Amino acid sequence: MDSDLLADEAKYCSFGDTVHYVTPPKVFTSCDGSYMFDAEGTPYLDLQMWYSAVNFGYRNRRLDAVMRHQMDVLPQVASQYLHPTKIQLAKFIAQDAERKFGLPGRVHFNVGGSQSIEDSLKVVRNASNGKSLMFAFEGGYHGRTLGASSITSSYRYRRRYGHFGDRAQFVPFPYPFRRPKGMTAEEYGDYLVKDFARKFENEYHAVWDPKTNQCEYAAFYVEAIQGTGGYVVPPMNYYKGLKKVLDDHGVLLVVDEIQMGMWRTGKLWSIEHFGVKPDVLVFGKALTNGMNALGGIWAREELINPQIFPPGSTHSTFAANPLGTALGLEVMRMTHEGDFGAKIMQSGAYFLEGLKELQKRHKEIGEVDGLGLALRAEICTEDGFTPNRALLDKMVDIGLGGTLEYKGQKTGLVLDVGGYYKNVITFAPSLEISRPEIDQAMVLLDQLLTRAKAA
Ligand SMILES: Cc1ncc(COP(=O)(O)O)c(C=O)c1O
Repeated sequence: MDSDLLADEAKYCSFGDTVHYVTPPKVFTSCDGSYMFDAEGTPYLDLQMWYSAVNFGYRNRRLDAVMRHQMDVLPQVASQYLHPTKIQLAKFIAQDAERKFGLPGRVHFNVGGSQSIEDSLKVVRNASNGKSLMFAFEGGYHGRTLGASSITSSYRYRRRYGHFGDRAQFVPFPYPFRRPKGMTAEEYGDYLVKDFARKFENEYHAVWDPKTNQCEYAAFYVEAIQGTGGYVVPPMNYYKGLKKVLDDHGVLLVVDEIQMGMWRTGKLWSIEHFGVKPDVLVFGKALTNGMNALGGIWAREELINPQIFPPGSTHSTFAANPLGTALGLEVMRMTHEGDFGAKIMQSGAYFLEGLKELQKRHKEIGEVDGLGLALRAEICTEDGFTPNRALLDKMVDIGLGGTLEYKGQKTGLVLDVGGYYKNVITFAPSLEISRPEIDQAMVLLDQLLTRAKAA
């Protein structure tokens, strides 16, 4: 079956919307919990969960039941009309943000991450009288629509298509493992804040007019913890310093929580770990556990109230679609029962311990780190530092081959690759992952490394 499908794909599908990474591309036919299955029924333990879009496990029974119920009562409704779950979900997110950040605000929906980034660009441009320059991070990823790719660091995504208005100045992200020698991670964080502040010392660093106290840049787009950039956790002091510089110069802080939000790091929003208040939050992916697409933004009242951001400022036919908002609301309710975050921090600590044990047996694992269940392992040469993309590519191939063994059964392992040198395993397991599944992950990773090194 796979070969017929692959022949049809080669003929009829645009390749512009994906990268397969392995040859031939892998076909999966079902999924459940932490596992994907191929046509032969071989289980693949998934440690990337659709790049963190399926945080609550494949076929989560509770969320699936809500989806089915919404299908039965109101699966479709045009955006000009109201439906209950749109309002309830917006209220939930806005009230939660007001409790956490002390800021009243509003929520605005769209159909996915990139589209929500576009909407946030409109919000910050509008609030700054149309400024289209932004700060963003080296290694940052904000999506592939035209606006989103202009604030994403990789020129590769813009090379063929150019810009549509927005441009970014890319600033180094504090990457502790690859910091300059002789500094602690915190000193490095401070150093980068000071280096950024230097841009505002006088007019000659090309961003600031001291005569009018105006910055040419409207906002700084950050992923609090870099996602595609390699699940890099910055030093804890960094954002407080950065936010002070931004506040002092009237630059908005937009936090892209599309990958690291929705509890990936043990809190609803990853920025909550760092003690700063965002001006705008952007979310997507796991809001609907990877089902009916829905993304959106929360913004401070001053930036998004109907007087300043009037009806029709952005619109999509499918924005605030009822299947998506019903799912999003259930995700919020489900994750606010009991101490959902504590469980994630415990599973994350257990996972990280496992990785540290593995590191003792394989000197090619240069660094392991993480926050909650956003974890990283940097694959290097034997010196434990030089990036080794070739070894990780082999690991991904072998994992997807489905020929590892666990308790006498043929098993596969699904890994995602990130990082500036494409040598980082970016672990985003199900937030519901069990201890036995984490133990299994370590056994499979051990086998995988041993085999890839021998290959
Ligand atoms: C941090 C971040 N921002 C934006 C996006 C774009 O979201 P989408 O792929 O839903 O358009 C992604 C997707 O991976 C992401 O990780």
